[in-house]
Amino acid sequence: MTDRCDLRCTYCMPAEFDGYEIPDNWLQFDEIVRLSRIFVGLGVSRIRLTGGEPLMRSRIADLVGQIAELPGLRDLSLSTNGTQLRKCASTLKERGIRRLNVSLDTLNRETFLKLTGRDSLDEVLSGLSAARLAGFDPIKINMVWLPGINQQEVEAMIEFCMARGFILRLIENMPMGRAAQAMGSSSLQPLIENLRQRFALTDHIIPGGGPARYLRSRDSSFSIGFITPISQHFCETCNRVRVSVSGTLHLCLGQDDQIELLPLMRSGKSDEFIAQVIRDAVMRKPEKHEFQEKPGKIIRIMASTGG
Ligand code: GTP
Ligand code: 5AD
Ligand code: SF4
Repeated sequence: MTDRCDLRCTYCMPAEFDGYEIPDNWLQFDEIVRLSRIFVGLGVSRIRLTGGEPLMRSRIADLVGQIAELPGLRDLSLSTNGTQLRKCASTLKERGIRRLNVSLDTLNRETFLKLTGRDSLDEVLSGLSAARLAGFDPIKINMVWLPGINQQEVEAMIEFCMARGFILRLIENMPMGRAAQAMGSSSLQPLIENLRQRFALTDHIIPGGGPARYLRSRDSSFSIGFITPISQHFCETCNRVRVSVSGTLHLCLGQDDQIELLPLMRSGKSDEFIAQVIRDAVMRKPEKHEFQEKPGKIIRIMASTGG
């Protein structure tokens, strides 16, 4: 939806970042709907709207309504930092967002300020309450696990999510962009084993198109997910592609393989032609990322690709 964001998470965006893409190159809503229709025609059944912060894009609810109506689409979801949710959660629900993932790395106000550059924790928390009131269920909380920064907060976050019925997901930092690379990535595996044993958690499957692996408590009252691109990657089952705000089709988060769709769309190419370009591109989807083998390779930040 956009590469802009109202937060500046240190692992994601440099403080001075002002977007890579100029507005003239942003896909307009009719172009996004057209592309969505082409993808759905090719058999894609899930679409996730991301950013940057997707709710920074004005009138996004109008777009949601148009995508949600596409015949053949089974799932329309949104990843957000939650700062704008208080005012728009119920509209997003009404227009057709089915599932919501909210980024929240800390419950501590000072750590939030340090990590995101903004004092917006209260907005995110009230946004989460609004989302729950609007009827979103499940709501997944994405917590990038950063030793030395929020590592000691896992228990507090588990309690917070348990009390509210949110599904917590711990994520290994992916070395995308110089800042994330400088912060390093730690394996979640020791923590997963520890939590599994302490709370007698067992494997569990939760609906979603994503890469998380879930554990659940015996009484089913609590589920926790782990996204482990570094310590246990899931590339062999990945069938995702991403389209940036300027129409770049990225075939893998951790590779540079990409195709520019915007010039095709703006030069009068037919839907059939674009569908064939996408089909050919997907056939060349890389086998896997190389975050470990080539840790400095991907210099584009997550916000430009779409989390
Ligand atoms: P669900 O459909 O709800 O399971 O969504 P999701 O987990 O895919 O979505 P979300 O946008 O909330 O992403 C959570 C984290 O998973 C982010 O850090 C993403 O970058 C990461 N992630 C999602 N898909 C992939 C993928 O294909 N490869 C890698 N390496 N990471 C991914
Ligand atoms: N590694 C892992 N996750 C990241 N996100 C942003 N940058 C990174 C990174 N370098 C996460 C956000 C959000 C999701 C969409 O992507 O925290 O929860
Ligand atoms: Fe914004 Fe998400 Fe990047 Fe944080 S991780 S700066 S909320 S796009």
